[in-house]
Amino acid sequence: MLELMSPFSSLTLLSLFSLLLTFTDLCNTQPITQNTTTTDYLKLPLRHRNPFPSPSEALSSDTHRLSSLFSALHGHKTPTPQLPLTSGASTGSGQYFVDLSLGTPPQSLLLVADTGSDLVWVTCSACHNCTNHAPHSAFLARHSATFFPHHCFDSVCQLVPHPQHTPCNHTRLHSPCRYEYLYSDGSLTSGFFSRETTTFNTSSGGVVKHRNLAFGCGFQISGPSVTGPSFNGAHGVMGLGRGPISLSSQLGRRFDHKFSYCLMDHTISPTPTSYLLIGGAQNGAVSQKSRMSYTPLQINRLSPTFYYIGIRSVSVNGVKLPISPSVWAIDESGNGGTIIDSGTTLTFLAEPAYRQILTAFERRVKLPKPADPTMGFDLCVNVSGVSRPSFPRLSFKLVGDSVLKPPPRNYFVDTAADIKCLALQPCQ
Ligand SMILES: *[C@@H]1O[C@H](CO)[C@@H](O)[C@H](O)[C@H]1NC(C)=O
Ligand SMILES: *[C@@H]1O[C@H](CO)[C@@H](O)[C@H](O)[C@H]1NC(C)=O
Ligand SMILES: *[C@@H]1O[C@H](CO)[C@@H](O)[C@H](O)[C@H]1NC(C)=O
Ligand SMILES: *[C@@H]1O[C@H](CO)[C@@H](O)[C@H](O)[C@H]1NC(C)=O
Ligand SMILES: *[C@@H]1O[C@H](CO)[C@@H](O)[C@H](O)[C@H]1NC(C)=O
Repeated sequence: MLELMSPFSSLTLLSLFSLLLTFTDLCNTQPITQNTTTTDYLKLPLRHRNPFPSPSEALSSDTHRLSSLFSALHGHKTPTPQLPLTSGASTGSGQYFVDLSLGTPPQSLLLVADTGSDLVWVTCSACHNCTNHAPHSAFLARHSATFFPHHCFDSVCQLVPHPQHTPCNHTRLHSPCRYEYLYSDGSLTSGFFSRETTTFNTSSGGVVKHRNLAFGCGFQISGPSVTGPSFNGAHGVMGLGRGPISLSSQLGRRFDHKFSYCLMDHTISPTPTSYLLIGGAQNGAVSQKSRMSYTPLQINRLSPTFYYIGIRSVSVNGVKLPISPSVWAIDESGNGGTIIDSGTTLTFLAEPAYRQILTAFERRVKLPKPADPTMGFDLCVNVSGVSRPSFPRLSFKLVGDSVLKPPPRNYFVDTAADIKCLALQPCQ
């Protein structure tokens, strides 16, 4: 995986962890009432797990990168952008989790919500009599009356990457569709691409069943992104990307091809609930439409999974940094560009942009530096005894002339008591 990724270094990632907290004060914690033109919409609570459970864990856990490699490995001859591999940087994770109710009768599973990949998959168990099985550790496929693996000859089986050497004998009755799905850090899930009935709670307190959700029933799962501490014992990943097999695409046909979410400030106590909304809510997860800004999503045909946005410029304390616009562009080979990825927990910037921003911050941050450097971060400050530490203001001007101005607590994160670090990383 490493050699595959090294040539493509210019992809910029803005993680939602940093990005969307900007709009937390616009979030609506109450159920939104609106005039839906279609049906109900679905409302799924998003749960945040604290990225830095303790300073020692923060230093040992690795950055979480859940992003699909599918487009790079399958179907494209030209190079495609790759998500950079995390250095040994110790940065903690900040995933958001969502419950998925799968099977008949429904089994409740906890999934990472990931806009940077397409596949919905869960850890599966094939046990017959699972009374001895650790409770809630996996989806028990044989306990569901509506579980069916897709046949390898089904057309839907062509939508997932397969492990090598899996010939399909279309005359055999039981020849399941095998999938193998890779994330950008080499983490992997493989098993049977299957279908199941899912049950969702709706905005109006009802229940909606969706039959034949295509999902991965995972039997082999490996790699830090899907097993490590940042995965937090989740059962799988809810892919929300643009590809046809994502949850948002599969449900989109029925729910107006829309989804939205608003990530609340998880440092507030008691923690407000964030929601993933699927369907035609007028203002989606946001209540104050007049205070919203817009930027168009961009298409990169060579990476159909990702939600791209366009960056025009970056400013620190209102001063525009001299970064060449080409740093942000998607080139003819599909390299470069900026994606919104809820499954990548820090913001990664192309090296030239990162250096400019870091230099501008180093010049303006007047707070004392910690005695020892914090592994994985280039700029940290010791705010011990400083009652109201002030940080330079970072802003991104986006295509459509909207300006993203995250509050400093979104990009200066706590890595230890009184130590705050600039939560940006250079793409490697
Ligand atoms: C909702 O629908 C009602 C009746 O059709 C209408 O009077 C009301 O103005 C609508 N509200 C909004 C916010 O569109
Ligand atoms: C749906 O709502 C019920 C009742 O409020 C709750 O017990 C259940 O956990 C919810 N299911 C999901 C998948 O959120
Ligand atoms: C299932 O497991 C339980 C507990 O181990 C045991 O009592 C029961 O006989 C088993 N049933 C079957 C059909 O094997
Ligand atoms: C395909 O499966 C059929 C039925 O099981 C079997 O007769 C046939 O030999 C198989 N073909 C191959 C190429 O394995
Ligand atoms: C931060 O500053 C305080 C007060 O000056 C000092 O006691 C503490 O050791 C410093 N912490 C680090 C990690 O440098």
